[in-house]
Amino acid sequence: MRVFSGIRPSGDLHLGNYLGAIRQWLQLQEKEECLFCIVDLHAITTPYEPKKLQEQIKKTAIAYLAAGLNPEKSVIFIQSKIPEHTELAWILGTITPLGDLKRMTQFKEKSKKYPKAINAGLLNYPILMAADILLYLAEIVPVGRDQEQHVELAREIARKFNLRFGKTFPEPKALINEKAEKIMSLQEPTKKMSKTDNHLSFLGLFDSEDLIKEKIFRAVTDSGSQIAFDPKRKPGLSNLLNIYSIFSDLPIKKVEEKFRGKGYFDFKKSLANLLIEKLKPFRQKQKEYAKRTVFIEEILEKGRKKAQLISQQTMTLVRKKIGLSI
Ligand code: AMP
Ligand code: TRP
Repeated sequence: MRVFSGIRPSGDLHLGNYLGAIRQWLQLQEKEECLFCIVDLHAITTPYEPKKLQEQIKKTAIAYLAAGLNPEKSVIFIQSKIPEHTELAWILGTITPLGDLKRMTQFKEKSKKYPKAINAGLLNYPILMAADILLYLAEIVPVGRDQEQHVELAREIARKFNLRFGKTFPEPKALINEKAEKIMSLQEPTKKMSKTDNHLSFLGLFDSEDLIKEKIFRAVTDSGSQIAFDPKRKPGLSNLLNIYSIFSDLPIKKVEEKFRGKGYFDFKKSLANLLIEKLKPFRQKQKEYAKRTVFIEEILEKGRKKAQLISQQTMTLVRKKIGLSI
């Protein structure tokens, strides 16, 4: 089965990206044919700094490798290096109902967050994402819960295309890790953790020991003193408990037991230490890869070549099907 996923190079990778998406990628690359993309064309739909974009792309490539992606097993590449993504996006746009785009939760949320920058690219974002997936005839799309709606739309677009022009694309499915489907913000625990929010609200995969301590101790917790999992009444504490449970490999019940009779301070101290220990290998690898610029460029170029081969084949077929070539 072919697998496709991507992350926007718009900030540092955080625990939400790692637990929600990348951990699944690591498992999949062992047994499936995987393509993992740095989706820079998606990153420019919200305000960004052009001078910093190349640096962000490089940082994301380093982060992919430091997080454990293996370039011998996965194709790692940059979206904008393959022009077929935008060509297919244009074509798919002609069969996507406008109403479907307007009802997308992410479009509504981002329009609210950036009221002065509601551009057509933000609206068309899910079409480009559908093109990313369909261009490689991917069937499995490992993502966090927030992207499920977009993958559903990609599925509908594939279905519509096949009906209108003849079977061309498989219908892709989102693969979601239930336990880490939505890691919440450390500052506003009813919102998802996001790299474009205040730095205290997310835990970076490569944050220093001091930063981890600071962010965990300053994480918003709820009133009361008992260490108990209750996402409705104690969203802040429950998010931290979930993170503890994932990294310690203990069920939440066991974590609750472990801290029975103890206070928030003890729990946070223990969580900070756990994260410092578990994230240490990532910090080390990131430092090593950051020095190997040429190696990173070679991997991306190798990835581009492989991705190009598949995407050109798909587009030759698509152009024929829709009557743009013979
Ligand atoms: P983004 O940073 O928005 O480009 O997201 C990249 C990947 O990480 C997507 O698969 C998202 O669904 C996933 N992701 C982002 N934030 C979270 C979060 N807070 N919890 C779980 N998954 C997330
Ligand atoms: N839209 C995704 C996000 O914001 C990133 C993305 C772009 C993606 N294209 C994709 C994810 C294709 C999976 C498949 O997180």
